[in-house]
Formats: sequence, structure tokens, C-alpha cells
Amino acid sequence: MPKLRCLVLLSGRGSNLATMITARDSGRLPLDICAVISNRRAAPGLEIARQADIPAIFVDPLSYPERQSYDRQLAQLIREWQPELILLAGFMRILGAELVNAYRSRMINLHPSLLPKYTGLDTYKRALAAGDSHYGASIHFVTPELDAGALIGQAVLAIEPGDTAEIMASRLQPVEHQLLVASLELFSRHTVELIDDMLHIDGKLHKKPLLLAADGRLISAGYFNQRS
Ligand code: GRF
Repeated sequence: MPKLRCLVLLSGRGSNLATMITARDSGRLPLDICAVISNRRAAPGLEIARQADIPAIFVDPLSYPERQSYDRQLAQLIREWQPELILLAGFMRILGAELVNAYRSRMINLHPSLLPKYTGLDTYKRALAAGDSHYGASIHFVTPELDAGALIGQAVLAIEPGDTAEIMASRLQPVEHQLLVASLELFSRHTVELIDDMLHIDGKLHKKPLLLAADGRLISAGYFNQRS
């Protein structure tokens, strides 16, 4: 099976990148991680990339004072690496519309909430404060509006009595990793596109995101409705 050529943008820890490397090395995912780019020199994710012999590139925001010039530099690097898919995995910088629109259907973001709830930061605290019964992770197409592009997949967890933001984050992390692997598997096996701002898989419209099932696969949300 041809390998999905993927470029990762990150600012922090890099646990999602580490998960991708493991999935690639174990043969679970036909993946070519062509490069990792960060806006933070000290991002641990860059070191994870280096250890795995993946080109790790720091693009210093201080060298590009305006967003447009920073984005132009990113765009140039992305063009050079020619990825099929760009993953934002904790990339703490808003990208301008020109760059985002140039990679429609090909740039995706991981977010720790059940979007459209809680775009931006402090998602766990906000879910707790609202008294929500559930929380989770989303993977979605990147569009110029923050965390607002069509959803591809979600993983849903219950909020338990006594939960804190820290407990919720640590419970979500391995599930988010599963969601990422399942989503990359989807991209490697199917044509996943944003058409008219909606998710299409192999040309078929999906009005709802796919859901992460207990066996680690992504299934259509309609599946639950059919069975209940
Ligand atoms: C993830 O929780 C993701 O949802 C958010 O940033 C975090 C990145 O984690 N956007 P890591 O750097 O991959 O460990």
C-alpha cells in the first residue's frame, strides 16, 4: 500500500508524533513522516523527531515579525517537503487564511474537546464548569476560522465524579492517540475531502463525524442509530 506522506506541525510535547512513529514502525500505518516543524525551539516533539531520524525544523517567530511572512516561510517549507497531509498536533499558532486555504482538505488538527464545543484553550476546565456529562477529542479539517472546520472523527469519554482537568487530560491522551491513528488510517485507505465545507469520504457526504469505537476503528455515527 502506498505510504501517506505526512508533515507534522507542533509546539510541545509530541506524544502524538511519538504515537505516529510507533504506528509506522510496527507496520500498523503506511506512513511516511517527511518532516516536523515547530515554532518553539525547545519543543520536546522536535527531539522526538530527531531521535527517529525525521527532519526537525524550528522556524523562529522572532525572525518573522508579521504573521504573513512567518506563514510564507512555512508555506515554502511545506512546498519543499510535498506532504499529502499536514497534521497540526498542538501547534500553538494561528495560521493565516492564505496558507490554510492552500491546503484545503489536506490540513487537519487535533483538538481536546467535542467540537463545536470549546474551541481554543482550557477545554477541560470549561467542560467541567458547564457541568457536561461527556468530553473528548476531535480531529477536523483546518479552515481559517479557529477550530471550526468540518469534523472528521471524535472520541467521546464520560466525565466522572471527582474529575479534574488534569485527570481528564491524562485519561483522554491515549484515546486521542487512538483517534489519530484511526484517522490517519482512514486517510491512507480512502479519499477524505472537504467539499462545500463538509466531510466527504470516497465522494460520499458524512454529515456527522465518525466516532472512535472500542476496537480503535472509526465508524459512522449512523451505525449507532441503526442499531438502537
Ligand atoms: C493534544 O492534546 C491536542 O489535542 C492539542 O495539543 C495536544 C498536543 O499533544 N491540540 P502532544 O504535543 O502531541 O503530546
